[in-house]
Amino acid sequence: MKKLIAGNWKMNGLSADAALLAREIKGGIEAEQNLACLCDFCVCPPYVHISIVQQILGDLSISVGAQDCAATPNGAYTGDISSEMIKDLGCDYVILGHSERRQYHDEESATVAAKAAKAHQDGLITIVCVGETDEERQRGIQEDIVSKQLIDSIPASATAENLVIAYEPVWSIGTGKTAQPADVETMHRVIREKLKEKLDNSAAVRILYGGSVKPENAASLLTIKNVDGALIGGASLKADQYLAIARAVASL
Ligand code: PGA
Repeated sequence: MKKLIAGNWKMNGLSADAALLAREIKGGIEAEQNLACLCDFCVCPPYVHISIVQQILGDLSISVGAQDCAATPNGAYTGDISSEMIKDLGCDYVILGHSERRQYHDEESATVAAKAAKAHQDGLITIVCVGETDEERQRGIQEDIVSKQLIDSIPASATAENLVIAYEPVWSIGTGKTAQPADVETMHRVIREKLKEKLDNSAAVRILYGGSVKPENAASLLTIKNVDGALIGGASLKADQYLAIARAVASL
């Protein structure tokens, strides 16, 4: 399975920054054509920068995604953005259930599942995020927590084509702390097993690792069994780092 190198730009950068970053990523991928043969790319800018980024990327095969969407169809929901609007912009992906949404916006797995169902209906691929907190890992309940999040966040509409899972231990996001390879391997195996309860063709679902992925640790993380790519926050804001992570795939 081709690795997916997904960048989550979060709430960073003004339009000029997004344009520059998109230009640098485009330039890098055009210059090293083997990268696009080995990896699929996706960048998820803030909503307001999506069109700018798309214009710059043009027909280069880098997918663009959003970082969230509403569970409802268009209507009187001030401040919300629908999956139909995201699809209409030409996006392929939407990230759902990121731990920052779960934490700061009280999003529960049932809400994530409702959003994912609507996004699937509108033709988007959902990157559904799951992950345990530090406290949950200390208590040794990380597998139960992640399994429950997974089962409760995936709607019946999910297929191997429209679902990507991102395992992101909350304590490793933006902290510089990366999970131990053995722990990543265990959790990705648990997720792969659990997916069987939800999907027929679960072996074909990509499971990304996220949490302080950097050029220095990319090769060791991306060689782990059942790690089918990375969801990258901080390092995706620097084109050279984002591209270096993809280059690590090329070196595998
Ligand atoms: P990070 O973020 O790479 O900055 O740890 C990952 C994420 O939140 O998706």
